[in-house]
Amino acid sequence: MADRILTGIKPTGKLTLGNYIGVLKHLNEMTDRGEAFIFIADLHALTLPIDPNELRQNSIDLACFYLAAGLDPEKAVLFLQSEVSAHSELNSIMQNYLYMGELSRMTQFKDKSAKMKENAIGLGLFAYPVLMACDIVLYNATVVPVGEDQVQHVELTRDLVNRFNNRYGDILQMPKAEMRKVGARIMSLSNPTIKMSKSDPKGDIFLKDDLAVVRKKIMSAVTDTGCEVKYDVENKPGISNLLTIYAALKDISIEEAEAHFVGYRYGDFKKEVADVVCEDLGKFQEKYHYFLDNKLYEEVLKKGAKRANEESQKLLKKVKQAVGLLTVSE
Ligand code: TYM
Repeated sequence: MADRILTGIKPTGKLTLGNYIGVLKHLNEMTDRGEAFIFIADLHALTLPIDPNELRQNSIDLACFYLAAGLDPEKAVLFLQSEVSAHSELNSIMQNYLYMGELSRMTQFKDKSAKMKENAIGLGLFAYPVLMACDIVLYNATVVPVGEDQVQHVELTRDLVNRFNNRYGDILQMPKAEMRKVGARIMSLSNPTIKMSKSDPKGDIFLKDDLAVVRKKIMSAVTDTGCEVKYDVENKPGISNLLTIYAALKDISIEEAEAHFVGYRYGDFKKEVADVVCEDLGKFQEKYHYFLDNKLYEEVLKKGAKRANEESQKLLKKVKQAVGLLTVSE
């Protein structure tokens, strides 16, 4: 059976090299394995305060990022989550099958809410994984390409599928998370023991960064004591992260990357990593501008919403029937 690929990215903050290496860059080749549903998780973006203009602009940017990364709209359905109402409808049903205890154990919720005042934590942030599970099961996804930080949410989706199917029969498809072998967790350049995320200007490489800035950030990335370019996450997290970035962009293994840099000094090593990142990002940025300037994303998103609406209604209907919601109009 062909795979059904599904993934989404939140249009919050500025997308990073972590998003690019962890997911974006490889989506195109994944679509060879079966029909793909790829979306802009704009409803998820509302779970933390965001300016409306920024959300709109980020959503356009993200559509262009997907296209610039090589996603072929003939092979993949690209759409805005909020334009497919079945996500929200299924969410109202599935929120009754995931429990407060398990939601409160989600690492991402714990991390994000820890930085907020209790009376400012929205219900949507807490219930985030319910909507994410709906995104996944709505299209009978079998494979969910994600970075490491999203695996726990996919695991929770698997729990939901088991729970729901045990009660109502074989309704939901069991998905599995798929991570890149190299690059599932790109770390911050300024503190390589934490993940590169959308909110750390010094340690992040943003996809729209000027290439001179990108080079500067890599050249000033934190390295480790010693002078050998070796992959050793424990003792050399900075060097290991740069090796990972290099290997992921060159599509080679960590061992091959290590072999390439035998005898290099840190400065020369960083320069070559910067060359590879700038070359890749340079081409990517050109394509991004092409899709943006010609507004090519609009037609793609319109067509995608139509197809996603058609497809998602099928599962929604099945679920409604299974739980006993009566349909008389149709
Ligand atoms: P988001 O927008 O935070 O991140 C998008 C994707 O990028 C991956 N990623 C990374 N990969 C490697 N290294 C990093 N430093 C790094 N940072 C982020 C993330 O793991 C993710 O795959 N909840 C999701 C969006 C979502 C979704 C879905 C994903 C909503 N519904 C259904 C899959 C299926 C999120 O916030 O990703």
